[in-house]
Amino acid sequence: MNHDISKRRQAEAAPLLEIRELTTEFETPSGVARAVDGATLEVRRGEIVGLVGESGCGKSVTALSILGLLPHPGRVVAGEIRFDGRSLLNLDSESMRSLRGREIAMVFQEPASALNPVFSCGEQIAEVLRTHRRMKHPQARARAVELLTRVRFPDPARLADRYPHELSGGMCQRVMLAMALACGPKLLVADEPTTALDVTVQAQILDLILELQRDTGMAVLLITHDLGVVAQVATRVAVMYAGRVVEAGARDALFETPQHPYTSGLLRSRPRLSGGPQRLDAIPGALPDPTRLPGNCRFFDRCPRRVERCRLEDPPPRRVRASHEVRCFVDPSPEAQ
Ligand SMILES: Nc1ncnc2c1ncn2[C@@H]1O[C@H](COP(=O)(O)OP(=O)(O)O)[C@@H](O)[C@H]1O
Ligand SMILES: [Mg+2]
Repeated sequence: MNHDISKRRQAEAAPLLEIRELTTEFETPSGVARAVDGATLEVRRGEIVGLVGESGCGKSVTALSILGLLPHPGRVVAGEIRFDGRSLLNLDSESMRSLRGREIAMVFQEPASALNPVFSCGEQIAEVLRTHRRMKHPQARARAVELLTRVRFPDPARLADRYPHELSGGMCQRVMLAMALACGPKLLVADEPTTALDVTVQAQILDLILELQRDTGMAVLLITHDLGVVAQVATRVAVMYAGRVVEAGARDALFETPQHPYTSGLLRSRPRLSGGPQRLDAIPGALPDPTRLPGNCRFFDRCPRRVERCRLEDPPPRRVRASHEVRCFVDPSPEAQ
């Protein structure tokens, strides 16, 4: 009995999602592309982790690897993904489908294309409840309307009867969030949920995600190329570069004392208060070709801080302080930050 309790406590103290050395490849005509190459990342219960990095660094492939939704010919070739004590990489497709409905929910960049055009919004949410919660029709419909209220539709019963093409992008994203909440997930994976929306709507959706996270206690893995988004909502941040996490830590520590020159570069390329569009690609150079990843530091070509060692070796993760790790040999000087 005591043994069971202590086991349960241990399981609760463990991170909700643990990704260790994840490696995901695609066979392409020009060779094997390593979209993700040894990425390590944790999401604890109830926290919002921001996964950030420029386009093509492997964020979406990481998300799809977690969800078991990699498109052909993508496959996880190494590493481990554990969710709530279970290894996801060994799950059969039926168990994975059930987990996706009940415990891990997701929202993507293009909410309109994620919704089914031939069913009303209420019907689509009710369908999730019928499939995963075995609710009967009237009960599912009532719950769907309730969920639409939670995502701040002023007239949820009317909205339930509307079709996706009648809604704006922001409204579609709120319907997607209602659908994501339907089964009370422990984790929401949100891949660029606000990227397709205009700035005002973007802020409303972020605010809503934050509110839903606080109310339900679910954890959120928020994927974005936009550091401004991360700054607003994340409690911890992981910075991804060329298929791996190069720096991870508490949001404030990471923003105030960034350790990796790539993180510093991202912070410098943020717009000032005067506004303007966010450009993370303001760091000169480009990501290495995923079919030919170098054996030394992958940021070498673009790095303003590089030393000879970086040309020869690949920096392993180094702990800077509790829960703040970086893959870089060079200590940042205060002025380099
Ligand atoms: N279906 C695919 N086939 C081949 N390569 C892919 C596929 N999907 C993604 N990739 C490659 O994987 C890398 C990471 O992509 P992705 O995870 O989509 O980046 P991000 O979401 O960070 O912008 C890129 O080099 C991309 O070209
Ligand atoms: Mg992406």
